[in-house]
Amino acid sequence: MKIVLLGYGTVGAGVDELIGSDPRLNSSLEVSGIFSRTYKNEMRDRFLTSFDDVTGSDCDTVVELIGGLHPAYEYVKAALLSGKNAVTANKAVIAAYYPELSAIAREQGVSLLFSAAAGGGIPWLKNLSRAAETGKVLSLKGVMNGTTNYILDEMTERGGEYASALKEAQKLGYAEADPTSDVKGFDTRRKLAVSLFVGLGTFVDETSIPAFGIEGITPEDISYAGKEGAVIKLLGTASANEDGSVSAFVLPAFVSRSGIFASLHGSENAFSYTADALGTQCFTGAGAGRYPTAMNVVRDLYDLASSGTPFPPVVFREGLVKNYGRMRFYVREANEIRIETASIDEMRDAYEGKQGVFIALMP
Ligand code: HSE
Repeated sequence: MKIVLLGYGTVGAGVDELIGSDPRLNSSLEVSGIFSRTYKNEMRDRFLTSFDDVTGSDCDTVVELIGGLHPAYEYVKAALLSGKNAVTANKAVIAAYYPELSAIAREQGVSLLFSAAAGGGIPWLKNLSRAAETGKVLSLKGVMNGTTNYILDEMTERGGEYASALKEAQKLGYAEADPTSDVKGFDTRRKLAVSLFVGLGTFVDETSIPAFGIEGITPEDISYAGKEGAVIKLLGTASANEDGSVSAFVLPAFVSRSGIFASLHGSENAFSYTADALGTQCFTGAGAGRYPTAMNVVRDLYDLASSGTPFPPVVFREGLVKNYGRMRFYVREANEIRIETASIDEMRDAYEGKQGVFIALMP
């Protein structure tokens, strides 16, 4: 199968390297073109300077690894319209445009695959789609962001400072170009929104999911959690409602020290679903980084080349996010710590703009 790569950054170069170095892969996958802003020696005669050369080429599959919404969305759309499969790791494009892009792919009889859009190298979305295809997925929960896990883990295990741990996560290549989307919970929210339509069959506007980040968390909160036998993690969670809506949120939460989420170190992530026949299944591993993410892209390509129907068709409808009921929260306002029972909206209204934090106490 002939492939053109769009973008040759961290993940794009990783995909080229993984395919080029493994005869099991390069006997069926050939990177025949690379469309990139800058030329590198590895590209040699594969370098393409115009997007028209991509759609006009004889490639079967376009792999979008540019990131960001535009022009990535336009490129994926144009690739599908020209009758080529598209593989992307771009959660922004998938979270915003999946209904439109999947309809084009269906009309054109081609595939749109995005296994690496949530979970880096973890085989999450593919397994989630399989669980949804043959059963009913009831809820999702996970630690879905490597940057915030790295920061919270540094603060918990080594007493590190928030700012220096963030810098280190950026240096290690885990953080987004603008790391505020990691630390404010927006990256987790996006991965949750993508997982939501794959697993629960409900496509929502990602911005309607309440999201709170980890910026206000201090060593005092970490040590309070420790005394309670807990650690703080940034959790994304969603569950299906009878009426087709979903309840979902992204919040820092106290999780038990003996549970699986507490065992995640560095940039590790965990994604879990609860399904009717399967019960709860949890997938853990590297949620960010060049080779793990590149490998999930390569697996999509390999599946595409070998079977033609690699990702079960995702069945979804558009739906709404409803509020969860009341929950228990740890609240620190200035130096005062207390436990409150409230809904997320009530917490937001009461504490937005004030100094301090609120952290969910998960049951
Ligand atoms: N910025 C993301 C993270 C990268 O830290 O998890 C992977 O999506």
